[in-house]
Amino acid sequence: MRVEELLKHGLPEKAVRVLRGAGIDELYPPQEMAVLAGLLDLRRSFVVSVPTAAGKTLIAELLMVRSLLDRGGKCLYVVPLRALAWEKYEDFKKYEVLGLRCALTTGDYDSRDTWLSNYDIIVTTSEKADSLLRHGSEALRDVNVLVADEVHLINDPHRGPTLEVTIARLMHTTPGLLILALSATIQNAEEIASWLGAELVAMDWRPVELREGVYCDGSIFFSDSRLQEVERICGNDVVNLALEVVPQGGQSLVFVNTRRSAEKLALDVAKEARGFLGEGEEEERLKALAAQVLEVLAEPTEICRKLSRALKGGAAFHHAGLEAGQRRLIEDAFKDNLVKVIAATPTLAAGVNLPARRVVIRDYTRYEANLGRVAIPVLEYKQQAGRAGRPSYDEYGEAVLVAKSYDERSRLLDNYVLAEPEAISSKLAVEAALRTHVLATVAMGYADSFYALMEFFSRTFFAHQQDAHTLESHLRRILDFLLDEGMCGERNGELFATPFGRRVSELYLDPVSAVILRDGLYAAQHKDTDTFSYLHLLASVPEIGGLYLRKGDFETYEDMVRRYEDRLLVEIPDRLTEYWRYEEFLSEIKTASFYADWIEERSEDFIHKKYNLGPGDIRTRVDLADWVLYAAYEIGRLLRLGKARELVEVRRRVRHGVKEELLELVSLRGVGRVRARRLYSKGYRTLRDLREASVEAIAGVKGIGPKTAESIKRQLREKGF
Ligand SMILES: Nc1ncnc2c1ncn2[C@@H]1O[C@H](COP(=O)(O)OP(=O)(O)OP(=O)(O)O)[C@@H](O)[C@H]1O
Ligand SMILES: [Mg+2]
Repeated sequence: MRVEELLKHGLPEKAVRVLRGAGIDELYPPQEMAVLAGLLDLRRSFVVSVPTAAGKTLIAELLMVRSLLDRGGKCLYVVPLRALAWEKYEDFKKYEVLGLRCALTTGDYDSRDTWLSNYDIIVTTSEKADSLLRHGSEALRDVNVLVADEVHLINDPHRGPTLEVTIARLMHTTPGLLILALSATIQNAEEIASWLGAELVAMDWRPVELREGVYCDGSIFFSDSRLQEVERICGNDVVNLALEVVPQGGQSLVFVNTRRSAEKLALDVAKEARGFLGEGEEEERLKALAAQVLEVLAEPTEICRKLSRALKGGAAFHHAGLEAGQRRLIEDAFKDNLVKVIAATPTLAAGVNLPARRVVIRDYTRYEANLGRVAIPVLEYKQQAGRAGRPSYDEYGEAVLVAKSYDERSRLLDNYVLAEPEAISSKLAVEAALRTHVLATVAMGYADSFYALMEFFSRTFFAHQQDAHTLESHLRRILDFLLDEGMCGERNGELFATPFGRRVSELYLDPVSAVILRDGLYAAQHKDTDTFSYLHLLASVPEIGGLYLRKGDFETYEDMVRRYEDRLLVEIPDRLTEYWRYEEFLSEIKTASFYADWIEERSEDFIHKKYNLGPGDIRTRVDLADWVLYAAYEIGRLLRLGKARELVEVRRRVRHGVKEELLELVSLRGVGRVRARRLYSKGYRTLRDLREASVEAIAGVKGIGPKTAESIKRQLREKGF
């Protein structure tokens, strides 16, 4: 179908022009199928279940543009990951010429984001959407189209329940809401459709051919029985697979299951890549990029140096240990065909468009707590494989698993390449998830009795898949807990949330965490406390959790317990009778010790060695701590616990990773812990000191430079100095 034909289906001329401008002349068959099924009539919800790269995003765009231009309101586009939210936001900007404004919002879970009211399309993650709903965001009241991208995420034990409840909540509050759920190929798409009361569009079609196969002993065996020899460049099979496509202008993405493997592999590729890279200009650009990743942090760490070395050889690794800024640089350089090979952990797999002609899936197992090594589901394999052969970049794609024996080869062929993806199932019964969502449902006023609670949850996918009894017993147990802990109450048979319960729900805390924080703060009222008391309290909530204990850690942290025993705000479990809990407790002490080192200004390299946390992990943990400490402070304030005031400074120190004496300096933009320390040691200890100094003198301090010095001066003027 040519895009002009969309006029007949209600899309205005100017919208068609935007599509043409973006290089879209013809609809892909699944897109056509959705349109012919009545997508643009705005009367029914749809589930679209088609292979990777089949153009699901455009289906959503057509629906959103049609709906906004025809009847106004707002569209909410929900994705699993921030990186993906960013990509979609960039995609949707092209509709600004139609007067449709697109907003991106992620993070900050205690805000109603009133600014969103001025926007038409809101791109966000499911957690943020959930939190906006809890805050009664006005903007969300106008939503009449909900797009759930990668809806198979419902299957994920950690993230799935929130997506599921957010969908159910919006269905509950918005009569006539149109839902478009986009899914990878899954076995029970029909079941999702029936849950949503939607029509199913399913098709096995991909714009770019994806050849799937298994590598073994020097050749790839493809699913059509073709055997293709792989050029031997060095003794490492995976390096050979990754580099082979480069001379023909291709690029590779290799999935491995640990960060360490990703780093090692990138360096191995870089070592062999010399003859594979363009000389001259390309070499210079790679060098420049290698220098740039060292500048993302004021003080580059071992990981940054490794990345920089790999980049010189045209390779990179990509995992959550990297800073978001570094990850973005790598993704962009890969899209520019500058970086030829990325070795990544599976976090890169969901939905993103990357120019990988070949995807190598080196590890098809991963380590899971309590289960050990498990094989990944077919669904996940398909997501990883599906990064190969994206329409805007390649004519075809290849996805290659790696086997060590012919036996393994045939197994992988059967279990992955030729296998059907699994059915997905609700994970809402996971205790922590249900706790939060039950409280939120009562706090938002959606349920004022057990019966109403049942009714609300009967709209979830969980209820759709399970029988009512299972649901009832789960809900009873959780409601009892919330009543016992004073988050909910009952008066004349009416169920309500207490002010404490309401605030906990808004703060987006697990009720169990709220109890730990509350009890800890009560304990603090009549105890000697210091910073470590609060850092440990912070580490005891499930959202933060303990760090993995290594050999030798037991003694280290038991010593620490002895040192701080009197100041801890959480009861110490008994070493003999509660051994599991005790071990967990020690790992929380380790987390507290990490935060203590961080605010004592230990270097990121030191932290990496001691705790195995990269710059990206530190960032994530700092953000988490910032939020939990804020929540703790808010709880303390609500319950009038005077000591909660002490949390303010702890929070500021954690946010910046500094000792108390630097807090004034880090209030300046562009001055982080490293620069602040350097200024301080040169005698600039306060903003006043900086006011007295000349721009040149400030610029002369190591790592500051004229640009930052100018900016410091400007900020001082703004602050009235
Ligand atoms: N009709 C079309 N004509 C040309 N290009 C298109 C068309 N539809 C989509 N594309 C391009 O195809 C690429 C893949 O689309 P998209 O990201 O929507 O795939 P997807 O189905 O969401 O895949 P995944 O399951 O991996 O998320 C994008 O680069 C998009 O611009
Ligand atoms: Mg997609």
